[in-house]
Amino acid sequence: MGKLKELGLEESNLVFGFDDFILLPSYISIEPSDISLNTKFSLNNDLNVPFVSSPMDTVTEAEMAITLARNGGIGVIHRNCSIEEQLAQVKRVKRAESFIIKDVVTINPEATVGEAAKIMEEHGISGLPVVDESNKLVGIITGRDVRFASYELKVKDAMTKDVIVADESITPEESIDLMRKYRIEKLPVVDKDGKLIGLITYKDVSHRGMYKDAVRDKMGRLKVAAAISPFDLERALALEKYVDALVIDVAHFHNENVISATKKLTEQVSCDVVIGNLGSREGIIDSISKIDKVAGLRVGIGGGSVCTTTQITRAGSPTLYAVAVARECLDELGMDIPIIADGGIRNAGDIALAIAFGASSAMMGYMFAGCKESPAPLMMLGGRYYKLHRGMGSLSARQKRLSVDRYAKLPKEIPEGTEAWIPYKGEASNVIKELASALRAAMGYAGARNIKELQTKAKVKRVSPSAFSRASDLLFPGESR
Ligand code: XMP
Repeated sequence: MGKLKELGLEESNLVFGFDDFILLPSYISIEPSDISLNTKFSLNNDLNVPFVSSPMDTVTEAEMAITLARNGGIGVIHRNCSIEEQLAQVKRVKRAESFIIKDVVTINPEATVGEAAKIMEEHGISGLPVVDESNKLVGIITGRDVRFASYELKVKDAMTKDVIVADESITPEESIDLMRKYRIEKLPVVDKDGKLIGLITYKDVSHRGMYKDAVRDKMGRLKVAAAISPFDLERALALEKYVDALVIDVAHFHNENVISATKKLTEQVSCDVVIGNLGSREGIIDSISKIDKVAGLRVGIGGGSVCTTTQITRAGSPTLYAVAVARECLDELGMDIPIIADGGIRNAGDIALAIAFGASSAMMGYMFAGCKESPAPLMMLGGRYYKLHRGMGSLSARQKRLSVDRYAKLPKEIPEGTEAWIPYKGEASNVIKELASALRAAMGYAGARNIKELQTKAKVKRVSPSAFSRASDLLFPGESR
């Protein structure tokens, strides 16, 4: 049973937020450290922690998405940039530690050693497979070969000809064994005719062991999602070959034009498409019934840290309420599409509540904006470091014009977001680890051994204003009297 029904709020005219509820303690048979945080971002994308970074231009570009994926979550690359720039960010994530590199930089045997050295320097790589005109592998030339040879020499006279190779069925573990056995750092992958189809590097494969929670695609590359406008089919088609999911990024999805454009778009791309933002029963049912291939629901309107939508328009749907409504709709329809709680999340307790109300993951801007990996300027203010965070509807974000269609087209644009300085938090991996630990602690109290149990079994209650009053004579750090 969904939380609205369970709490008798189905017919109520009340909307609510995170501070209105609390998880009740319940029996658990395991220790919090053994609790599983495995979940889904979208129908075909599993996560190891339920954390997603927002598609905002002060939150998610490649660096943030790499950290999220290495630590079990996923980043959604923002769209306030050209198609080429967004694609480049996505490709950086995919290249970060791919198991078999597909777009291998190669050289011809007739080229000179000097040319090989130049290519290696330009691409920041330490070796090149040598291929003939038919792409057949004939050797490999490494930094070591180049360093001790004359630059006028032909590559074919300086390269190693006896190359250890692998075929495409090799596993990461087997490739490590092979490279260790032959003390090599690069392992070309060839097809049955000896043609080069990829390259495995020791650095990339050994990195994999460092991130046990990483979420990867079938080719062993880190997963990543990208935000798009429903009206930008060109962008969607350019990105879909590389991303694991596309996220429709509009402030108000329940709009005739948005729904029909998204419907057309989903018919032309093959990856998962997450729709949003949604916040009402009618909106959710209408969207799901009109669009066949919905792989995820991003819900919550106006609840974000730098949103001014609700102040300016008095319209919105608080995130926790939106999650509860979405869960209710999906239960009624007998569907199980992952729900992403988006906006206003300040701590792991908020995430636990969102999941208890039916979400599968939480999308966060504020929580990650202050991290080293966010693409925002770092500033020293009054002896402390801060990072800039801005709403995608803020005046300064809109000046770039590239994601301005997130909001309604009006004769005069109304800013629906603001900017703020956020205290610098250091590395996002630490934020993720702390969030994961605190979420496990919350689940431990709530008696949930995994995300499914938190969604289905956790008990929540309304909180009265005096429920948690604390001693008033204590002076906490940072407070003054
Ligand atoms: P948090 O609270 O995690 O929220 O920073 C992130 C979410 O806020 C949304 N967003 C906006 N909403 N005006 C809005 O009304 C804006 O300018 C704006 N910018 C971002 C977005 O859903 C994001 O994931």
